[in-house]
Amino acid sequence: MFYRSIRFKMTIVYMAVLALTLSAFSAVLYHYVSRSLYENMDTLLRSKAEGIVHAIGTYWEAERLGPNRYGARIDEWQGSINFATIAQRWVQERSKDPKLLDIIVQIYDPNGMVVASSKSTQGIASISEDSLIYVLYGNSMFDTLTPSFPTKRIVKFRIFITPAVKNNQVEYVVQVASPLSSIQTTLDTMKVALFILFPLTVFLTGMIGALLAKMTLRPVDNMIKTIHDITVENMKLKLKLPGTRDEIEKLAVTFNDMLARLDYAFTSQKRLFEDLSHDLKTPLTIIKGEFEVALKKKRNPEDYESVLRSSLEEVNKIIRLADNMLMLASFEAQNIMPDRKKLDLSLIIQGVANNIRKLADEKHIEISLSQNDNMGIKGDEEQLKQMFLNLLDNAVKYTPENGKVTVTARREKENLRIKVQDTGRGIAGDRIERVFDRFYRADKSRTGQGFGLGLSIVKSVVDAHNGKIKIESSPGQGASFIISLPAGL
Ligand SMILES: Nc1ncnc2c1ncn2[C@@H]1O[C@H](COP(=O)(O)OP(=O)(O)OP(=O)(O)O)[C@@H](O)[C@H]1O
Ligand SMILES: [Mg+2]
Repeated sequence: MFYRSIRFKMTIVYMAVLALTLSAFSAVLYHYVSRSLYENMDTLLRSKAEGIVHAIGTYWEAERLGPNRYGARIDEWQGSINFATIAQRWVQERSKDPKLLDIIVQIYDPNGMVVASSKSTQGIASISEDSLIYVLYGNSMFDTLTPSFPTKRIVKFRIFITPAVKNNQVEYVVQVASPLSSIQTTLDTMKVALFILFPLTVFLTGMIGALLAKMTLRPVDNMIKTIHDITVENMKLKLKLPGTRDEIEKLAVTFNDMLARLDYAFTSQKRLFEDLSHDLKTPLTIIKGEFEVALKKKRNPEDYESVLRSSLEEVNKIIRLADNMLMLASFEAQNIMPDRKKLDLSLIIQGVANNIRKLADEKHIEISLSQNDNMGIKGDEEQLKQMFLNLLDNAVKYTPENGKVTVTARREKENLRIKVQDTGRGIAGDRIERVFDRFYRADKSRTGQGFGLGLSIVKSVVDAHNGKIKIESSPGQGASFIISLPAGL
């Protein structure tokens, strides 16, 4: 289902994160832009108002000094001077000044009467009584007004009122105002731009994200298709590597490795069944043949006894096979945990060597034993016995008559090192690795008596006791099995 796909989830998460980030970013941007626009406006109004106060002061001074320069008496002149006219004249002249274009100037006397005003006051009401009182105390103030004249769009005005103080007395009050329409327009445009850009960006990035996810996950789709075709029969099928050298390629390589391991496991399982059937069939066929021959005619008791004896030998072989298989199966299921007890390994080796001596004597093989003391181990007696039995059995079995088998066992620091060396036919280098496999016999002619399970059991016992085993051998030069087991305290 599409909405369950990684692609869909990735795209949705991607878009959600982007939408959140963009909203936060837009909000912060809008806030800062609007704040700085308003601050700029206030700075402009303040500087204009201060400029006006300064300019009018200079202008008035010049008017006052003018007549004086021509000999008129100051007090005469002062009587005739009309501040209102001067202010009005000044405002009129300056109203054409491009710097004051958007600014509406109103000048009040301390009683709040308009003394002069620029041509258009755009319906801005006269100074309120509260503001006047506040300003007459020598304070300046900002305010935002909504004029009461009817327009389609409500335009707010920002005003700044400041007193012109001389000799600690307010001479007149200057009020400058500017419409906030340009700021409002800028902010409105910004809102619209963000409003359009926001979903557009989220949508476009989402689409690109979906496309990228699709491209990235395409090899996964291909892998799924190939995996569908893999069955037990065609485990050799491999995933095609995407060649991207990324995690997906790693996944494909890992999957191929796993397939190879499974293939190996299945093949060896198959081989196990074949080998097991074959090894079971051989003694059963021998028994069947002997029975058939015996039953062909009446025989004397000695003949029957001999048939029974040789059959018993074959039955014992089958039992040994079954025992070995059971033991290996248990090792595999890991339910044979060594029953660890404090043991003396030298006694176990001694016992096994004595048991095998009968077999060795038949072939005139000398078994020499050399061990030192302090061979304590914590281990499973039965398993360890079985291990040495299998090793010595091999040594005697694969050594021709008059050969020699040497067992040396000594303690080396924390480990017990046991070496079983023979003078037999040895094992070829390329086969050494495989002798621990189940049913593997290095001698392909299968003339040997065994099933190829002895060394598998040896390896399992060594592993269960946290030990190590290695083989040193070359064909015709004999073989050495070297085992190292952690010593018990
Ligand atoms: N000491 C040895 N010298 C030469 N070849 C050996 C020696 N021990 C083992 N091998 C080779 O390794 C193979 C595997 O040994 P392993 O003990 O597992 O099986 P096996 O002796 O054939 O049968 P089983 O032990 O089950 O009766 C043997 O068939 C033999 O070819
Ligand atoms: Mg063996």
